[in-house]
Amino acid sequence: MIYDVIIVGGGIAGLMAAIEAKTSSNKVAVITKGNIFKSNSSLASGGINAVLDKNNTHEIKKHIDDTIKGGYGLSDKKSVSYMCNRAPHIIKKLVSYGVEFDKDENGEIAQRSFGGGVSKRTCYVGDKTGSAIMQVLIKQAKIVGVDFVANNFVMNVTKLKNKISGVVAIRRIDSSLMVYPAKSVILAGGGYAGIYRGHSTNAQDYTGDVLAIALRSGLNLKDMEFVQFHPTGMAKSSYLISEAARGEGGYLVNSDGKRFVNELETRDIVARAILTQVNKGKKVYLDLRHLDKKHIETKLPSLYKAAYNQAGIDVTTELLEVTPVAHYSMGGIESKMTKTDIKGLFACGECAVNGIHGANRLGGNSLLEGAVFGELAGKKAKEFAKHKEFLPIDYNIVVKDQKVVDKIFDRDTSKNFNSMRISMGETMFKNAGIHRDYNSLIRAYDYIKYLRKEAGTLHCIDKGRNNNVELISILELKNALEVAEVVILSALEREESRGAHSRDDFTKTLKANEKSILVNELKKGYFQIWYEHKSALLNCIIKKIKN
Ligand code: FUM
Repeated sequence: MIYDVIIVGGGIAGLMAAIEAKTSSNKVAVITKGNIFKSNSSLASGGINAVLDKNNTHEIKKHIDDTIKGGYGLSDKKSVSYMCNRAPHIIKKLVSYGVEFDKDENGEIAQRSFGGGVSKRTCYVGDKTGSAIMQVLIKQAKIVGVDFVANNFVMNVTKLKNKISGVVAIRRIDSSLMVYPAKSVILAGGGYAGIYRGHSTNAQDYTGDVLAIALRSGLNLKDMEFVQFHPTGMAKSSYLISEAARGEGGYLVNSDGKRFVNELETRDIVARAILTQVNKGKKVYLDLRHLDKKHIETKLPSLYKAAYNQAGIDVTTELLEVTPVAHYSMGGIESKMTKTDIKGLFACGECAVNGIHGANRLGGNSLLEGAVFGELAGKKAKEFAKHKEFLPIDYNIVVKDQKVVDKIFDRDTSKNFNSMRISMGETMFKNAGIHRDYNSLIRAYDYIKYLRKEAGTLHCIDKGRNNNVELISILELKNALEVAEVVILSALEREESRGAHSRDDFTKTLKANEKSILVNELKKGYFQIWYEHKSALLNCIIKKIKN
């Protein structure tokens, strides 16, 4: 199948891009590796930030300032201003597609407080905003005629002389390699918080695949050391307890029943405050008991049910134990207003760094960023494709990918990818988690290097090619390990603490380091790392991975 525009990933950014890119005369496809209803966007349950009146420049300026402050000096002012000014239009657009935001007593869209915001600007649908928006966008994409190509795991993009020509994917149904030529491609495949497996709200397939693809195609990754730990995962299951619970007036208390932090501080601060309590031997709980039962049932219905079903807790009368869990990755593919360094290739949403979140994202800004930059990427990709011809596919990449697949099938192994991805998650959480230092990061680096070597010897035990679950899991693990290594190297390079990156051996935030770290892969196994704006060679570390 050939398409004018292909979007890799079906979260909010991917679907907004697809809807925007589609016209009556072009062909647009969204390629997803799995279930489109299970994207991370559905997890952003608490809401989407926006000043609703586009003429209220005073409030929009506050939204801009909060976002920039939350990013600890690493956000791009122009991008943030674009996003915050676009926000009222996005909410209007979502409403026109059919999203039914909760209303206040005057029938206007209701807004709640979220961490790091000086005004109430988070629009919501109870505590299932992300999934409510996603359902509407899936419908809208179908209405306008977007094709959904599900169960296709994209392995690589192909290009000719630095111009995009298509994507190569594995079709799950028979493990065959598919080539999808396209005039322009948008990467919107989500983030990498899933590499903290066992300590993450993300589904297990959030393995940073499109970031690994970007590295292989020569693009830079940016801000990779910044991983957001959401303060309130349910201790029993890592299920996300939405920030909406605190936005609606919930408290955090320790085992002594004492509050210990302003619950509406930014997530990095609240997560560290919880960890400090835990390190003192205390447990931490969400306390909603002072709120009206009806209020909880109507504003936080998912939380109410999940607490009961997963932990046997009635939050209207009991405390619910919580713990910080990896939720969102601020790092991603370096992009300027969605453009990458490959012509015709765009990036948006969690997999991309378009200059918004910097070192720490504000709650409610992820859905907004996904929608705004998804829309922009869709517009740009459509324009780009309009006057272009299809370019030839680079079959060297296809042949290479086929060899990778065949090798995984052809040999035998006694090793288990599942135990490897669990140990990857444990190592990352313990050593490259909320707090890190040189020694812990080196421990993580050594272990991830070891796992990368081991992953090279993974093969399918089941040799049947139809609906083979092992093949994709092995490829995902390899991508995740590559991304994990980049996270660790970036965290080692940043010898200071900033936002979500907290180094116990470098506790100060340094003005001189108020810049992003970039990484690229010079050739397989050789990473180059440098601070933006500095000469790459001056500050370069080249690491050889033995695999
Ligand atoms: O807590 C939450 O509802 C998450 C929201 C977000 O990630 O923006």
